[in-house]
Amino acid sequence: MAPVSPSLIFSLCLIFILIPQAATQPSFICHTCSPGLGTYTTNSTYAANLKHVFSSFSSNTEIENGFYSASFGQDPDKVYAIGLCRGDLNQDFCRSCINDATLALIQLCPNQKEAIGWYDNCTLRFSNHSIYGSGDEIPSCFINQNNVSDVDGFGKAVKSLLDSMISEAASSNRKFATKTSVAPDLSKLYGFVQCTLDLSEQQCNNCLEMTSSQLPLFTIGMGGGRFYTPSCNFRFDTNLFFQPQADASLPPSPIFPSPMPIKGAVILM
Ligand SMILES: *[C@@H]1O[C@H](CO)[C@@H](O)[C@H](O)[C@H]1NC(C)=O
Ligand SMILES: *[C@@H]1O[C@H](CO)[C@@H](O)[C@H](O)[C@H]1NC(C)=O
Ligand SMILES: *[C@@H]1O[C@H](CO)[C@@H](O)[C@H](O)[C@H]1NC(C)=O
Ligand SMILES: *[C@@H]1O[C@H](CO)[C@@H](O)[C@H](O)[C@H]1NC(C)=O
Repeated sequence: MAPVSPSLIFSLCLIFILIPQAATQPSFICHTCSPGLGTYTTNSTYAANLKHVFSSFSSNTEIENGFYSASFGQDPDKVYAIGLCRGDLNQDFCRSCINDATLALIQLCPNQKEAIGWYDNCTLRFSNHSIYGSGDEIPSCFINQNNVSDVDGFGKAVKSLLDSMISEAASSNRKFATKTSVAPDLSKLYGFVQCTLDLSEQQCNNCLEMTSSQLPLFTIGMGGGRFYTPSCNFRFDTNLFFQPQADASLPPSPIFPSPMPIKGAVILM
């Protein structure tokens, strides 16, 4: 019998490593289980209601604007949930993201009455109280990526990019905006802002203004970042990460995947 080549063994090992991962959901960029807000037991009515709401999201093929909202059950076991895809994401990627999020959130926050998880492509949140139109700004999560040399100038460029998108996003049909500007080192700076579609124009403005007012604390030295709250989010990067033709008044189209690794996250409760 011929000797088995080391590269074959290596390939086989890779396959064994890769198979189990294929069955699990991607990790959230950020998530929090709001442990202060109570727990439910495994076979309770709350568990069944949550499962019902989430399966209604996963099985829904009608949603075209990337916004999912539902509640199910009777007090005190009523469950409320909201899902939101990136505004420039197409329907298939959106559904797949929401589906992953329903599985991952229950796995990561077993028996928690309230939780939220943020992916690049979508956000999913559930609670035992009504969250529709709440305009909640916490919990929030800030992620930064690479360092820049001109910290001060870069921070200012990021803030002015964000500020220039707020009213456009708040007044658009799909409550998002994308924009390209120039960083101090003359590289491109790409920005994306979005609110959940249950917010009024005023609420969306308020949520994004709050994000902007907190930004200087965090942007120090960052070449790319994301700021997530339950009701709005902001992302900037020196690499293009959204569909350049994305138009908040039009139906969704495909986006580019994020090329950047995640370096650190701060969760604010
Ligand atoms: C949600 O659950 C918490 C903890 O069990 C409870 O204190 C609160 O009253 C519940 N909220 C509603 C609206 O039922
Ligand atoms: C939940 O129900 C299943 C099926 O009825 C049962 O096998 C399981 O032991 C129950 N778990 C708990 C924690 O009660
Ligand atoms: C970013 O800057 C910090 C502080 O100066 C340094 O410790 C870190 O290694 C830098 N990271 C990268 C990726 O350059
Ligand atoms: C996010 O959406 C893009 C398409 O726009 C897709 O290529 C990528 O795989 C999605 N990410 C995940 C983790 O599904």
